[in-house]
Amino acid sequence: MRFRRSTRIDEAKAMTNLPWILVEDYKLPGGWVGSEQQQARARAYCEMAERGQILFFRQLPFDLPLEDQKFLREQEWTELRMHKNVSYRPSEDILRGVSGNTATVERLHSIMRNYSARIIEFIGRFLSPYNGKWNLDFASFRPLEEENRDLPLHKRNDLLHVDAFPSRPTRGGRILRVFTNLNPARPRVWNTTESFDALARQFAKAAGLQEIAEDDSFLARTVQNLGAKLGFGAAGRTPYDMFMLRFHDFLKENAAFQENCPKTRLEFPPLATWIVFTDSVAHAAMSGQYAIEQTFLIPPRALVAPEAAPYRILEEIAGRPLVS
Ligand SMILES: [Fe+2]
Repeated sequence: MRFRRSTRIDEAKAMTNLPWILVEDYKLPGGWVGSEQQQARARAYCEMAERGQILFFRQLPFDLPLEDQKFLREQEWTELRMHKNVSYRPSEDILRGVSGNTATVERLHSIMRNYSARIIEFIGRFLSPYNGKWNLDFASFRPLEEENRDLPLHKRNDLLHVDAFPSRPTRGGRILRVFTNLNPARPRVWNTTESFDALARQFAKAAGLQEIAEDDSFLARTVQNLGAKLGFGAAGRTPYDMFMLRFHDFLKENAAFQENCPKTRLEFPPLATWIVFTDSVAHAAMSGQYAIEQTFLIPPRALVAPEAAPYRILEEIAGRPLVS
């Protein structure tokens, strides 16, 4: 039994040419299939994700009642919606991005609260090395069709990019996102491209890495002071955060890259769930409607493969520290 499990992980690791790692040893009900080596398996999945693999589940690995799924899909979103997405912040129990009928908004709030709690429980067990060490970020529901959305260039979801949040610097921490396609009939379609390492080696210098790395004595301190004034306190932006924001924009602005880079098309089927570090896996949402997602920020001390973190790759290229 023990041999079979470790073989499965080795096989999964060897399948690096596949667009995702199919997880078959964690499912409902009960979570882990087999009681042996759960910690080792959890750690192996963390490592695969940190190294740029997408962890894929054919069926929901957490509980989300059918009536909640249906309620999310059946609202008149064009009337209710205020922002790009509906967002929920679990640490403060706040729902944003939606307005309308009070009973409807309260029901949405309760569905998002319950969804977020189930995901936190699921990730705490499936990726247990991160349990309790994360900073909980937003959950979101994305009710609009992604294809042909009319958004400003930097907000477009259909251009390849890595994620960076202007208002939430991670200071080297990583952005882990758990997505579920709640569309009962249609896939959610992504494009991905080469690894972060390959993209950084091709484009980081053109995107201004060296200037940011060498300017940290002045510019980063200025931004940190500004961040402190705005309420970010000690958690201001590091040169790493500044570079990642610029890299996000640089990739979206780079028409030649968007046109010519090698692309892998991923079709996430109805009710599939996938886990991905979106700060390193470049992605573009090409089509699909009704995705739900929870984000975790994983600090450097919780990583199982810190050498694969974008900040470490960028520090190596820049030859300078970018985080501290
Ligand atoms: Fe993104």
